[in-house]
Amino acid sequence: MHAESRRMEEEKAQLFAEISHELRTPLTAVQGFVEAIRDGMVQDEALLKRYLDTIYTQTIHITRLVDDILALTRLESGDVTVEKLPVDLVPLARDVVISMEAMADSKNTSILFEKKTENAVVLGDVDRMEQIIRNLLKNAVRATENGTVKVGVGVRQGEVVLIIEDDGIGIAPEDLPHIWDRFYQVKNQRGGYLQEKGSGLGLAIVKKLVQLQDGSIDVTSKLGEGTTFYIKFPSYNPK
Ligand SMILES: Nc1ncnc2c1ncn2[C@@H]1O[C@H](COP(=O)(O)OP(=O)(O)O)[C@@H](O)[C@H]1O
Ligand SMILES: [Mg+2]
Repeated sequence: MHAESRRMEEEKAQLFAEISHELRTPLTAVQGFVEAIRDGMVQDEALLKRYLDTIYTQTIHITRLVDDILALTRLESGDVTVEKLPVDLVPLARDVVISMEAMADSKNTSILFEKKTENAVVLGDVDRMEQIIRNLLKNAVRATENGTVKVGVGVRQGEVVLIIEDDGIGIAPEDLPHIWDRFYQVKNQRGGYLQEKGSGLGLAIVKKLVQLQDGSIDVTSKLGEGTTFYIKFPSYNPK
């Protein structure tokens, strides 16, 4: 018990250190730009606009970080209610695909929805299920340019299988085990616009949400070829 509580204290200290580090970078940038403007060092109209845009983008990033930290902390603390109601993943996944088409289009990427079954009903929380699919699809589209993202829903051996496959940049073997870690982001991935920068907490949240709904999630990837996520949930068959 003693060792257990010490381990929890250490984990908490580690988490606080990580959060502080993550927030410090954008806060320092905001502070620097605001100081330069306040001290009258930015006279050029166009430059001023650029600085203000950067400040704005950084504050958005800080907000996203704080929102995701709160969400993950709540999920890990165990005091969240995840509903267990029948949810059909076929129309749900299709709707998420439709909502992401514009974003994919802007990267000359198409999203294909592959329905391998009429219905794929699982027990879960529809909003949480949507969050899972949206997060994975966003990652896939972000990693892909002039390519294809496939979203498949099927039923196999009493399980609903959701597959999200992209032919984007892929993940190196040394990075792959770490993508689930909070704040982990693969370095040197191209297309790293600040505007699209996530919190690095997406997959940690996704994994927790999948587990809370009795599912499992796996990934395979090859650098330069693409990435595939496999999510399985027990299929629900009302008697
Ligand atoms: N489909 C994908 N293709 C390539 N890399 C990916 C993919 N999905 C996730 N990653 C890598 O895993 C990291 C962690 O993902 P995530 O937890 O969602 O954080 P975020 O999206 O906020 O960066 C991403 O930063 C990215 O480097
Ligand atoms: Mg993400």
